[in-house]
Amino acid sequence: MILLDRVTKTFKNVPAVEGLSFEVGRGEVVGLLGENGAGKTTTLRMISTILQPSEGRIVVDDLDTAQRAEDVRRRIGILFGGETGLYEKLTARENIAYFGKLYGLDDRTIRTRTEELAKRFDMTEFLDRKVGGFSKGMRQKVAIARSVVHDPAVVLLDEPTSGLDITAANMFRRLVQEFQAEGKTILFSSHIMSEVERLCDRAVILHRGKLVFNGTLESLFAAHDSRDLDAIFMNLIGTGGSR
Ligand SMILES: Nc1ncnc2c1ncn2[C@@H]1O[C@H](COP(=O)(O)OP(=O)(O)OP(=O)(O)O)[C@@H](O)[C@H]1O
Ligand SMILES: [Mg+2]
Repeated sequence: MILLDRVTKTFKNVPAVEGLSFEVGRGEVVGLLGENGAGKTTTLRMISTILQPSEGRIVVDDLDTAQRAEDVRRRIGILFGGETGLYEKLTARENIAYFGKLYGLDDRTIRTRTEELAKRFDMTEFLDRKVGGFSKGMRQKVAIARSVVHDPAVVLLDEPTSGLDITAANMFRRLVQEFQAEGKTILFSSHIMSEVERLCDRAVILHRGKLVFNGTLESLFAAHDSRDLDAIFMNLIGTGGSR
């Protein structure tokens, strides 16, 4: 469903991602792990066509992102953590509808889909209020709803639970499981090992823009003769846990 083939991205001659190849199969949930600056966001941005690779090729649902960016975008839902970029003066519903229009949905589809998502994320109560006064958790719900209004087959999430409290983070994890049950393909970045352990079939670990591991967590545990993901991670990136 997602294929990266020797992808490199350089910013002013400095590589942020280097020779990166991996695949995410249809319906798979894959965690993208790495320290700050490892290249996670850059990778997700390239897959979502916001950035173009300097070298290499990215294919989503058999479509080359360089040639079919628009078609790729229609198949993808993107949620970047931190700043949600919602329009403060618009209501939650209007924010969602705005994205629905960008994706070319008709008004009726937007309306039914919005109601459905509002029920699902427990946001009916504030659906018609302006986003300006919303809490972080409420904003995140609207942002998620907005990013999947077009019912994409692929969902890319960049540190989706960062800054959320336990309730909101749990809601979010449930959502990933629901998406998975619906057969969506999910790639999400995180540096919370337990979250990855709970949600992912497989992990891709980056270090300074390069792939250092790609496989199931079970195979990672077996190779390191340990189930301590934090310690394994430190080993993989060469600090041996002595930091
Ligand atoms: N627009 C840009 N211009 C210049 N350098 C950039 C740009 N975007 C990212 N970089 C650099 O690329 C590298 C990878 O950054 P990226 O944001 O992809 O890492 P990350 O794994 O998402 O980190 P974090 O966990 O902090 O979010 C970093 O060294 C960063 O400084
Ligand atoms: Mg990032």
